[in-house]
Amino acid sequence: MQEVFRMPAWGARPRFPDRGGGVLVSESVRVVVCNELGSLDDVVVEERDTPVPGRGQVVVDVRAAGVNYVDGLICQGRYQMKPTVPYVPGGEIAGVVSAVGEGVTGVKVGDRVMAMTGFGAFAEQVAVNASSVDPVPDALAFTHAAAFIQSYCTAWFALARRITVSEGEWVLVLGAGGGIGLAAVDVAVALGAQVVAAASSAEKLDAARGMGALATVEYEREDLKARVRALTGGGVDVVVDPVGGRHSEPALRATRTFGRFCVIGFASGPIASIPLNQVLLNNRTLVGVDWGAWAMRDPEGHRSMLGELIEMVQSGRLHPVEPSQRPLDEAAAVMASLLDRTVTGKVVLVP
Ligand SMILES: NC(=O)c1ccc[n+]([C@@H]2O[C@H](COP(=O)([O-])OP(=O)(O)OC[C@H]3O[C@@H](n4cnc5c(N)ncnc54)[C@H](OP(=O)(O)O)[C@@H]3O)[C@@H](O)[C@H]2O)c1
Repeated sequence: MQEVFRMPAWGARPRFPDRGGGVLVSESVRVVVCNELGSLDDVVVEERDTPVPGRGQVVVDVRAAGVNYVDGLICQGRYQMKPTVPYVPGGEIAGVVSAVGEGVTGVKVGDRVMAMTGFGAFAEQVAVNASSVDPVPDALAFTHAAAFIQSYCTAWFALARRITVSEGEWVLVLGAGGGIGLAAVDVAVALGAQVVAAASSAEKLDAARGMGALATVEYEREDLKARVRALTGGGVDVVVDPVGGRHSEPALRATRTFGRFCVIGFASGPIASIPLNQVLLNNRTLVGVDWGAWAMRDPEGHRSMLGELIEMVQSGRLHPVEPSQRPLDEAAAVMASLLDRTVTGKVVLVP
């Protein structure tokens, strides 16, 4: 997975077989470019030479590119990883292999694949390391596949690897209408848990109910701790927190004896400072969840985990929702809407 974060190589102009076995005449592709880290206004669509697969790489004809919260943060220069500009944002794709570089085995032209690309995903075509691509299962459309890996791997890594959720346990999911939130509801339900979904709007809570949540809390209006305790007869066993900020502490206080609190992200901005007596009380456990770092250190483990998830989709145990589809030209607007909290579920760019 180290190579996941390598930038795609834009280069000379090859002739690519198209899906019908003919030859594509296009010598350029449209890509989204971030010219300055800072304002999303500096994100534009430009023409670039078609990508050439380097040794060990494949070129993927992008059918859908997932937009994640972190993409906007990176463009704004607010993320720890700061790419050299200009760069092509976006880290998750699904599409069809249209060219194969030297030394590639196991992937061929015409294969339906999904991949984490690091950067470069918001484009009509992208060159990625063949070792980073996985087949798209029949059960997933390209749009679903492009929005799957980051959200579901993080949720599964939290609830089935960093901790183990048992059947019948109560799981509180914060930000339950977001990408990781909805995936966490789906995963928790698949593990037999009972889910309380917390989010800021009726629309987001409806989405979480649609995914199987039994109870909901609108946490900007209601007292999160009191409501969760009342709904669950004393508290939850597990908290999934991709939001951070002022909701973290009441969520921790809403856990019962031996409660586990999964720290996943800080989408609201501030990182909560939790009084450690709240961990001591009731023998609670705080658990850090960093799927991305783990996947880079253990690519085989990650691939095996993704295989488990895909098997669960194919057997009907997981039900990823249909993402909204937007054109490449709206990349900046979509990233802005994730940062200003107006998106429910997932969004993919469809070149
Ligand atoms: N640890 C890991 O391995 C890992 C992996 C991937 C992503 N992450 C992190 O997890 C977090 C969530 O990612 P995501 O893909 O679920 O994002 P998302 O789809 O944008 O959802 C985030 C949710 O956070 C809530 N939120 C509260 N205050 C917010 C604010 N000021 N701005 C934006 N959102 C706000 C929103 O729900 P409400 O409006 O309902 O409050 C929103 O739906 C991010 O910080 C991301 O970097 C962590």
